[in-house]
Amino acid sequence: MSKLAINGGEKTRTQSWPSWPIWDQCEINAVTEVIESGHWGRLYAGEASRCYQLEEQFAAYQDARYGVAVTNGTAALEIALQAVGVDIGDEVILSPYTFVASATSILRLKAVPVFVDCEPDTRNIDPDLIEAAITDRTKAIMPVHFGGRACDMQHILDIASRHGLAVLEDAAHGWGATWNGRKVGAIGDIGTISFQASKHMTAGEGGMVLTNDEELAEKAFSYHHIGRLPGRPFYEHHECASNYRMNELTAAVLLCQLTRLEAQSQRRHENGLYLDEKLGAIPGLKPLGSKDYMTRIIRHCPAMFYDEEAVGVPRDRFIEALNAEGIPCSIGYPHPLYRNPLFTEKRFGRAAEIVDYPDYGSMNLPHSEQLCLNQVWIANNALLAEPEEMDDIVAAFEKVMANVSELV
Ligand SMILES: Cc1ncc(COP(=O)(O)O)c(C=O)c1O
Repeated sequence: MSKLAINGGEKTRTQSWPSWPIWDQCEINAVTEVIESGHWGRLYAGEASRCYQLEEQFAAYQDARYGVAVTNGTAALEIALQAVGVDIGDEVILSPYTFVASATSILRLKAVPVFVDCEPDTRNIDPDLIEAAITDRTKAIMPVHFGGRACDMQHILDIASRHGLAVLEDAAHGWGATWNGRKVGAIGDIGTISFQASKHMTAGEGGMVLTNDEELAEKAFSYHHIGRLPGRPFYEHHECASNYRMNELTAAVLLCQLTRLEAQSQRRHENGLYLDEKLGAIPGLKPLGSKDYMTRIIRHCPAMFYDEEAVGVPRDRFIEALNAEGIPCSIGYPHPLYRNPLFTEKRFGRAAEIVDYPDYGSMNLPHSEQLCLNQVWIANNALLAEPEEMDDIVAAFEKVMANVSELV
């Protein structure tokens, strides 16, 4: 008789996992207050602006002096790139194992994403490969703290200072993540955060630019505010910029979300460590790499490495079996960014006529390729469950492993 749920056996877990987002009366009251105030946009909210409060509170939480609240993480990246002066034809170095916005923000400025391979275990850019990618057109390095695991910032900062480059941290997943005890996002020149729906602090959409540099903060403010400058007349515009202002309703929700972030991060952290230990002990599975400088890992896109050869079953089939057992899992990114038609077909509009882009179609960065083939991502919200519920995840992995012959 079949044991695995995928073949009609009993399911390991029948209860649901914590739903996301988590909210309560705080969000309802906060949004109601904003609606009743009539000040739905920050322009008319004055000192009471929720966007302003969020900038103050979240920037302080993230060890940054300045924050600019914006519409989303993609806009935050574009603003930060503009603030550090990235312009037509400039090159920005990043890894291709990330969400596409890390690279499209560069393309939107008609600049050039230069992909450098990842470390095989952390999913982050390999700093040892950065220097070889620097040319006289390189303007910035964009370390992505993928899944809330800090990049090797000392190494990256040293390279940047040797070559006079800006460091822009894509800290979209960095809420509370630390590098050598310091929160990510304003360790380099400037950084960005996302509050999109899947993120650990969310209002459906939203983002923030972080920096410790007053001049960059002013530029970011201007680029998100249609080129206005603080203290200058309202209809005086200084930059060619868009409107990326966050609205007051979004900020009100995020202020509530921030009050729960620490406790939730701690829960995810402890549950993640437990899963690393228990799942890592199963032959064929291995935890992601941790380094001493990753003093606090925020477990976004939590995952295990899966050794298809050792297990003897294709990863997709293994994941289907886990899903049938009631454990929400996926493969994560199916390919590195450069394999998207956007890159292989250089769909960069007229910019392709004036800017010298690499031949993305012929790229093959082995660790980034491998990262798309060897991970099993576990749904973010599962790590918010009670610690003892992690045993359902462990039991399901063990059960599927013990019965792989049913999947062949
Ligand atoms: C690494 C990374 N960078 C940037 C972004 C863009 O953020 P947003 O979706 O808020 O525009 C995301 C969002 O998923 C992301 O994961």
